[in-house]
Amino acid sequence: MEVCVVGTGYVGLVTGTCLAYLGRSVVCVDIDERKIQMLREGKSPIYEPGLDQLITTGVQRGNLRFSTDLASAVKESEVIFIAVGTPPLPTGKADLSYVKAVAQSVGRAMDCERRCIVVNKSTVPIGSGNWVEMLVKEGLQENPAYRERLAMSAAAGQSGSTTTTVSRKLNGLKPEDVFLVASNPEFLREGSAITDTFYPDRIVIGATDSYAAERLRALYEPIVEQTFLAPASAPRPSGFTAVPVVTTDLASAEMIKYAANAFLATKISFANEIANICERVGADIKEVVRGFGLDSRIGPKFLNAGVGWGGSCFGKDVSAIIDIANEYNYEPELLRSTVSVNKRQRHVPVLKLQEVLKIIKGKTIGLLGLAFKPETDDIRDAPALEIARELLEMGARVKAYDPIANEVCAKQHPDLKIEYATDAISLAEDCDALVIVTEWEEFQYLDLNQVGEVMNGKVLVDGRNVLDPAAVEAAGFKYRGIGR
Ligand SMILES: NC(=O)c1ccc[n+]([C@@H]2O[C@H](COP(=O)([O-])OP(=O)(O)OC[C@H]3O[C@@H](n4cnc5c(N)ncnc54)[C@H](O)[C@@H]3O)[C@@H](O)[C@H]2O)c1
Repeated sequence: MEVCVVGTGYVGLVTGTCLAYLGRSVVCVDIDERKIQMLREGKSPIYEPGLDQLITTGVQRGNLRFSTDLASAVKESEVIFIAVGTPPLPTGKADLSYVKAVAQSVGRAMDCERRCIVVNKSTVPIGSGNWVEMLVKEGLQENPAYRERLAMSAAAGQSGSTTTTVSRKLNGLKPEDVFLVASNPEFLREGSAITDTFYPDRIVIGATDSYAAERLRALYEPIVEQTFLAPASAPRPSGFTAVPVVTTDLASAEMIKYAANAFLATKISFANEIANICERVGADIKEVVRGFGLDSRIGPKFLNAGVGWGGSCFGKDVSAIIDIANEYNYEPELLRSTVSVNKRQRHVPVLKLQEVLKIIKGKTIGLLGLAFKPETDDIRDAPALEIARELLEMGARVKAYDPIANEVCAKQHPDLKIEYATDAISLAEDCDALVIVTEWEEFQYLDLNQVGEVMNGKVLVDGRNVLDPAAVEAAGFKYRGIGR
């Protein structure tokens, strides 16, 4: 099956690469020539564990290609994934301009010789499936191959000929004979994107036509049935045998994605709310979560108290679902609180620094971690950015060290006057306090004696509750966690 994936970001590149590993013939398309050039040279433009290796495998096998030529890629493909960004607009709405541009171009480029499935993998507001269908149709009107087939169809209709296969296909040609739209929301997590793609909790397919759903099911067959040989970099979890496929209508598929992210964001905000109360009453959030997370109705995941959620998805998706609700005259109060609790939480480390250091102006603060979570270089809506900005505004000198994201941060935020360090020890030099912002594994194994020796003051704010307070205090630090 020939597949075209438009957008080689975290979602598109991982999807295309994994489908190629499963034996599909994949061409990944992007408008960013620099990205495509890097990919052709075998280098991944993003950091994602295991991805480089799989890209190399696909390129060597010859069934994974990279291109900036959308039209040619579309012409040769049966399944066309739209996996471009849908960033938030200042109003909270999703910016659909990238999806729009792609959908129209796809319509203009189809060869109309076979029926294509245009699949929305980007996270898009409810109703976007129908909207994409309309845009592809608009593009089709400008498509010479489609116009030619329409003319042939009209001629076949006039001659009244319905006897040959060709005339039967052409007679009364409709856009749905040429393409169908489906929704296939993505649930991968950056940092474990390959594993999440090969071993997902479920695959959601939204379609109005059963043919589209069947073709997508067939595309994913090796994952659904777990019949592929697991790559060394992503071994199959023990006991993992099959993946449920949720086949539904377009609107429900789109809503499933928003509901999932809104729920996960709400879980974290809930844990932070409880953590803030724990702190006031003298309870320990880690113990509290351990106790209530063991309830099988609740579960322990996504209940880590800390500096709050970030990343490219939660904030924009919760804002988008709030906006959609408002459009339908509904006020989603719970979701608004999810956002406001998170906003407040990002401010908590600064309050803790004030509590211990009193004066922030003139102090040197070291941030351990910049990425919105470990194992990624993604700093979109990362809490670290807001914490750094607030400290800088208060007159602090801000240093930072992230094992992967220093360079991305310096490039994307030249306005932030952060001093970047190459390791935790050089970060700690001259610092009055350190703040763990991202729970990279190496921060859990810091040699606190060595760290403390080069610091100006020994204060550690553990914004992710990853350290043992007693051990930190035994190394002579003042320790402040979240909700403990
Ligand atoms: N990142 C995640 O963890 C994640 C998880 C699930 C769903 N999603 C959703 O998937 C979508 C993509 O997210 P992402 O993080 O991969 O985005 P991204 O910003 O990393 O990548 C988007 C890519 O699309 C390219 N692009 C934009 N316009 C184009 C065009 N006209 N033609 C070709 N390429 C074009 C950009 O150059 C970029 O490389 C979003 O809707 C997002 O909400 C993301």
